[in-house]
Amino acid sequence: GKVAVLLGGSSAEREVSLKSGNAVHNALVQAGVDAHQFDPAHQPLHELMQGQFARVFIALHGRGGEDGTLQGALEFMGLPYTGSGVLGSALAMDKVRCKHLFQVAGLRTSPYVVVDKNSAYDSQAIMAQLGHVMVKPSHEGSSIGMAEAHTAQQLKQALQDAFQFDDQVLVEQWLSGREFTVSILADKALPVIEMRTPSGFYDYQAKYQSSTTEYFCPADISAEQTAQLQEMALHAFNLVGAKGWGRVDAMQGDDGEFYLLEVNTVPGMTEKSLVPMAAKAQGIEFSELVQRILEQTL
Ligand code: DAL
Ligand code: MG
Repeated sequence: GKVAVLLGGSSAEREVSLKSGNAVHNALVQAGVDAHQFDPAHQPLHELMQGQFARVFIALHGRGGEDGTLQGALEFMGLPYTGSGVLGSALAMDKVRCKHLFQVAGLRTSPYVVVDKNSAYDSQAIMAQLGHVMVKPSHEGSSIGMAEAHTAQQLKQALQDAFQFDDQVLVEQWLSGREFTVSILADKALPVIEMRTPSGFYDYQAKYQSSTTEYFCPADISAEQTAQLQEMALHAFNLVGAKGWGRVDAMQGDDGEFYLLEVNTVPGMTEKSLVPMAAKAQGIEFSELVQRILEQTL
């Protein structure tokens, strides 16, 4: 039957989603699937019901696409969709609640403080406790609204900036080690990728614009470390109730241990993205990857 590829949307990650959705749509069409693009920013969602679609491929990133709200609407419409359900999507999109869960489950994650918009906070005390920090809006993706802070003054500025994107902000102790990601397909871990950025961190620019970001797949770490990262990623993925496919990000601390960052339930699917790269390392071409993700809706 007909497949709707949901792309674009109105989150801060719209541009990334347009790229992911286009790549997915092209791959499906080339594979002979009757796929159609549908952008919820331009078409009311209920029109999906009049389109006689059999299934939905969600290529929307961020709020209103990856956060459970869309998934709830599709459940209501009785339309099968790719990836995680309502709960897993909503939880994974909430970095603060994920941190709470990781701690309860004994999954290593860096120390943090949560700051709510319009509530008092002591920037000196936070810096005294955590030292060098990374400030993140709780419900964003692609590093949007994120900033590094070394001083109380920088923290105040970073919080003010992050509050433009979210009412809740996570202040995490800085991790200075290597960055890794574990892609998940059909609830199994794919080869680990290491991302290296010559300056700063793996931010929006390094992710989508830079030509100097380096990727190592499979990552140059021991078999034990690979297994440890994959196990940690699957544990986190299952813990938040994510399903099917996704990507779990982690970093190595100065102590050599791996620290969990977050779970992404609709990771980037551009031809240059990480999940396609990991799949390819396992012999799964982009077109097959897209079809395998879609098959999960059957
Ligand atoms: N949030 C972006 C799309 C990712 O995780 O790949
Ligand atoms: Mg993310």
